[in-house]
Amino acid sequence: MRLVLLGPPGAGKGTQAGWIAADYSIPQLSTGDMLRQAVANGTDIGKQAKAVMDAGQLVSDSIINAIVAARVQEADCARGFILDGFPRTVAQAEALDDMLAGLDKPLDAVLEFKVDAKALVERISGRYACAKCGAGYHDVFKQPKVLGICDVCGSTEFVRRKDDNAETVRARLDAYETQTAPLLPFYRSRGLVHSVDGMGAMADVRAKIAEILASLT
Ligand code: AP5
Ligand code: ZN
Repeated sequence: MRLVLLGPPGAGKGTQAGWIAADYSIPQLSTGDMLRQAVANGTDIGKQAKAVMDAGQLVSDSIINAIVAARVQEADCARGFILDGFPRTVAQAEALDDMLAGLDKPLDAVLEFKVDAKALVERISGRYACAKCGAGYHDVFKQPKVLGICDVCGSTEFVRRKDDNAETVRARLDAYETQTAPLLPFYRSRGLVHSVDGMGAMADVRAKIAEILASLT
């Protein structure tokens, strides 16, 4: 199964992609995670991307397209994959079409996450992650079972994303509206879009997605 998760920052794409990946045994390809890794490793791409990400703007299509084109050809993508945060511009969507046509592996669905602007800001401002294993948490909606200790790896160190501050969040929401939302008509015209009400609790959103995915097979 080949899926695109589309939605504004904080809509829950990463959270749900993790569950879909586990349920269907296909990898989650998060361009945001790949870029953050490149920044942490100090690679050339990381150096170019850092300031752009810190400002909440989009990294250039050419950089992102090259990363994804290489990744979807890796062996673990043979059975499918979940694109989380890509494509984000019409140019990226067109490049994805070319990549998948070359592999003879078209998209099965685009899941559109619908969440109110107020909830997006609330979700982003409370988000944090384990510094060691990357498991995601939230100050209100998802605390570890024992506060201060990661459920997954037991680490007591946590981090917050540098771009999760009020000013950068505004820029990211704006980038979504102007550059990414136009992908909805692009994919709707092909009958690929399934809208997901992302306002419910995480488990309820997961159940709605499971229903949609079951209807595809
Ligand atoms: P990226 O990492 O993709 O960030 P984003 O799109 O802004 O999305 P987020 O990770 O903020 O949100 P999410 O929808 O995954 O929400 P989450 O599940 O974490 O991109 C970062 C930057 O990289 C971009 O700004 C850009 O610079 C660059 N970039 C990346 N891809 C690019 C591309 N293709 N082209 C160009 N540039 C690119 O949930 C948020 C919080 O809410 C969590 O704490 C979670 O626990 C909580 N939560 C989730 N679901 C619920 C729920 N149902 N109820 C309550 N809380 C919930
Ligand atoms: Zn951990």
